Amino acid sequence: MKRSHNCSELTVANTGEIVCLSGWVDSVRDHGGILFVDLRDREGLTQVVLDPQNASLKALFSKIKPESVLSVSGLVKERIGETVNQQIATGSIEVHASDLVVHNVSKTPPFPMDSTTDKVGEELRMTYRYLDLRRRSNLDILRLRHKTSQAIRTYLDSVGFTEVETPMLFKSTPEGAREFLVPSRMNPGAFYALPQSPQQYKQMLMVAGVEKYYQLARCFRDEDLRADRQPEFTQLDIELSFIDREDMYALIEGLMADVWKRVLGVEIPTPFLRLSYFDAMNRFGVDKPDMRFGLELVDCNAIFKDSTFKVFSGVVQSGGSVKAFNAKGLADITQGELRKLEDSAKALGAKGLAFIKCVKGEWKSPILKFLSEQELASLKDQLAMEDGDIVFFAASEWEQACTILGRVRLEAAQLLVARGLLKLDPNDYKFLWVIEFPLMLFDEEAGRYVASHHPFTAPVLEDISLLKSDPLKVKGQHYDLVLNGVELGGGSIRIHQPELQKEVFEDVLKIEPEVVQDRFGYMLKAFEYGAPPHGGIAFGLDRMVTLLAGRQSIRDVIAFPKNQKGQEMMTQSPGVVSENQLSDLNISLVEESEET
Ligand code: AMO
Ligand code: AMP
Repeated sequence: MKRSHNCSELTVANTGEIVCLSGWVDSVRDHGGILFVDLRDREGLTQVVLDPQNASLKALFSKIKPESVLSVSGLVKERIGETVNQQIATGSIEVHASDLVVHNVSKTPPFPMDSTTDKVGEELRMTYRYLDLRRRSNLDILRLRHKTSQAIRTYLDSVGFTEVETPMLFKSTPEGAREFLVPSRMNPGAFYALPQSPQQYKQMLMVAGVEKYYQLARCFRDEDLRADRQPEFTQLDIELSFIDREDMYALIEGLMADVWKRVLGVEIPTPFLRLSYFDAMNRFGVDKPDMRFGLELVDCNAIFKDSTFKVFSGVVQSGGSVKAFNAKGLADITQGELRKLEDSAKALGAKGLAFIKCVKGEWKSPILKFLSEQELASLKDQLAMEDGDIVFFAASEWEQACTILGRVRLEAAQLLVARGLLKLDPNDYKFLWVIEFPLMLFDEEAGRYVASHHPFTAPVLEDISLLKSDPLKVKGQHYDLVLNGVELGGGSIRIHQPELQKEVFEDVLKIEPEVVQDRFGYMLKAFEYGAPPHGGIAFGLDRMVTLLAGRQSIRDVIAFPKNQKGQEMMTQSPGVVSENQLSDLNISLVEESEET
């Protein structure tokens, strides 16, 4: 029996034809005089009718359970009157079976295979991921992901890019996240590391003269996992020669517009907004602001510099910042909600979360008694405070005050969404470039400077002279692409001069010259053989597809994702290995001590 049509294809035009369908049993119904099977394949659903007078069909029918696999052949008949189902594409016909093959009878699935499955625990769904994926909504996501990578390849191909594969077995470069190590049997005691990104190889491809490279590259990072992070994930990785930042913005804006058009049929306006890192932090308290709403942070130093409320004036006088924002309409916040916001602020180091609300023309606040009429009037004016509003404050060192209120702002926005006072439309795509990041950060724990993105990012030309004397003042030629509060990707124009790269490693990052030689010697050498000016970017493909699919978690758009503990539940990986395997690799396990 060979399939002639798929399960969403037949219409009244096929009436009278003998067809053959194959697929899974979506449901079975025994209406006494007549037996129904809804047959489902990846395209859709068709109703099959079995005549109980046919003894052999009736015997087979009694065996069939939902999710069993069948092939059925029969005559297409038009449905009439009430039996027409407008909900499905094939709702105006049914197939009257004359022959039936049961390929496999399914056991009863461990969860219902319908829209209620989304409420089933994720661990159970992931253990039976082949059943979870069999559901229409999940098959659609796999296709959307495929469509996205196809669109990316088509676009990049059309503008002259070459896809190049780079090694998965790389070496350890412990500047970034924690790595996954792979022991080398043939080199006892030596380890490969799985790549965190193809960064170094793609730069070598530029030295090699490839000029326009891309790859849908698998990357590995042994980090703590969250909804937007997996230990292995896919990057759309890009690198080009002879370009500057403006060329990069134009290329990527074209790519995103094309992908959104092909995948969703949505027109994305270009050019994208741009915001400096300073403005992003100062106005939104985060380096990846969601531009679909305002609730912007306001600087209140001028209002409180001489305040009798010492918590605020003290911070201003010691060089810090008092920041505030108006959570418009949230004055009816409950005690419980307020406590949660305060806990979030405290988790980021806040000493408290002062607020003032305006209810029926009256100010209400635990700090009201400390504030003068003049201060209240300025606040009302600068924060556009009206009846029903609540203003939150953070007083601290500038970056901390911004970060604290940035978090409170996001949580307050969720409370406003829940009250219907704010709408965050997932189909409203607000792309944003965040630019002008500092090149270096000071790592208090390590007592040294660290690259804010990675050590290959070029400083902006006008700041190069400050590299050694005042590294924190140097801005990098770095850019991040943010969409609706999610960091989609980031990259930079790179250093291509061996002397400058060496200076960054040795004089700024203070990596010992021998260590630089050992880890990056090949790169410095390559730069001495004609390295072109170059730059690149990488996007989290999983995050991009999550946004295109309107989902919350990247686990939803990965065929076989890992759980919070980095385990893949279906195959139960990672697992223990035999003594023999370990001894082949010259590895012996240390007994975990009782105390740890
Ligand atoms: P970066 O480290 O910013 O840059 O990574 C680029 C993008 O990859 C995605 N991403 C992740 N997605 C899922 N799970 C993770 N654990 C994870 N980590 C990162 C994010 C991020 O924006 N080599 C540089 C790029 C360059 O400079 O060209 C790099 O890897 O969307
Ligand atoms: P206190 O005088 O310390 O009890 O603080 C008075 C109010 O200000 C309380 O509501 C605190 O939560 C809040 N508060 C204290 N320190 C800060 C700060 N650094 N930033 C914002 N609010 C604060």
